[in-house]
Amino acid sequence: MRMRKKAHLDRRMERQSARLVERPEANRGRWRELLDGCREVRLELGCGKGRFTVETAKAEPEVLFVAVERVADAMVMAMERAEAAGLSNVFFIDGDARALDGWFAPGEVSRVYLNFSDPWPSNRQAKRRLTHPDFLRLYAAVLAPGGEIHFKTDNRGLFDWSLFQFPKAGYALKQVTRDLHAHGVSGVMTDYEEKFYREGKPICRCVAVKGETLSARLTLTRPQPEHEAAVWIYRQCFQDVQEPCVGAAGLEDAADYAAWRAAVTDEAVKANTFIALDSGGEMVGAIRVRREAEGPWEASGGQVAFSVRPDRRRRGYATEMLGLALAYCREELGLTRVLITCADDNAAAARTILHYKAALEDREADAAGRPARRYWVTV
Ligand SMILES: C[S@@+](CC[C@H](N)C(=O)[O-])C[C@H]1O[C@@H](n2cnc3c(N)ncnc32)[C@H](O)[C@@H]1O
Repeated sequence: MRMRKKAHLDRRMERQSARLVERPEANRGRWRELLDGCREVRLELGCGKGRFTVETAKAEPEVLFVAVERVADAMVMAMERAEAAGLSNVFFIDGDARALDGWFAPGEVSRVYLNFSDPWPSNRQAKRRLTHPDFLRLYAAVLAPGGEIHFKTDNRGLFDWSLFQFPKAGYALKQVTRDLHAHGVSGVMTDYEEKFYREGKPICRCVAVKGETLSARLTLTRPQPEHEAAVWIYRQCFQDVQEPCVGAAGLEDAADYAAWRAAVTDEAVKANTFIALDSGGEMVGAIRVRREAEGPWEASGGQVAFSVRPDRRRRGYATEMLGLALAYCREELGLTRVLITCADDNAAAARTILHYKAALEDREADAAGRPARRYWVTV
């Protein structure tokens, strides 16, 4: 009986194979290519039987919707609904949302929908909640600056808990309500939502916005006159430990701030130097990005170089800063892949680069003759 059920499911899945993305990692950085004139990419995580995605996609044909669901029996119904509606802007991933950053490039997604996610009420299972800080960090890695998470649930406990998690993870909250349909049906309903609504259960909803110019905690900016004090403290911290300020374009040797700033903001220089400021305005990192997709630098240095203030390491700043820079490479420079190098013995830098699913190209000597690793990252 079980075998027959499985064979039946397989046949139904097969009929929908054009919508099922079997190897989502192969589309990383290229999802927009699936839809002519695609305006943006949105995800629904845990789409169930797909009513929400299908109805929303009908109303916005220029948006590409990718629905993720780990239970194939439910997802096949969602795919059949998309098929019946004749939609060409909906695709499906049969998998666990935990793998999201392997499927989508930094900044590739504009919106994530979490509709009636499983509440996992016991503390032991908190890590499985789709609004757990680990998941919120994952979404920040793929969302564009200003990207949004739209969260709906009937579970008041999960909602109140999540309202604390969003700001802690660096999102700003808006449109918070604990009774979405108080004045009549508002927006597209999901399958679960319709059932709860009929039972008279109030629905909670909020929108969490990823910071406008940054990821969760940092602002990446070109150095301005008002940043002089922060930049000079940064330089002093590196002098104290006798390390070069990698990614800061010779800051350690600069005669004065004005001259350094003029040099790094000169448009003739084919690289942009950014400083990363924390919420208190302190400079915690520097990152330099070469604007050209190709160049002699490929043979020696990489396209991106970065450093984090020695006393601010091991807090995830490097990962966050690199995520912002990769989004910049993709959105502003139109690059599809980026070469990043690090010293062969710098395990922390290698870990940061590998966070973005980098592929090791080779080990070569850098400009100073030191052994270095060269990685390509698809953005
Ligand atoms: C309670 S149902 C809600 C379904 C649908 N969103 C709705 O509102 O009708 C939650 C769905 O999320 C899926 N889900 C939960 N955690 C998931 C994860 N980590 N990755 C993918 N799907 C997940 C479950 O399999 C289930 O189908």
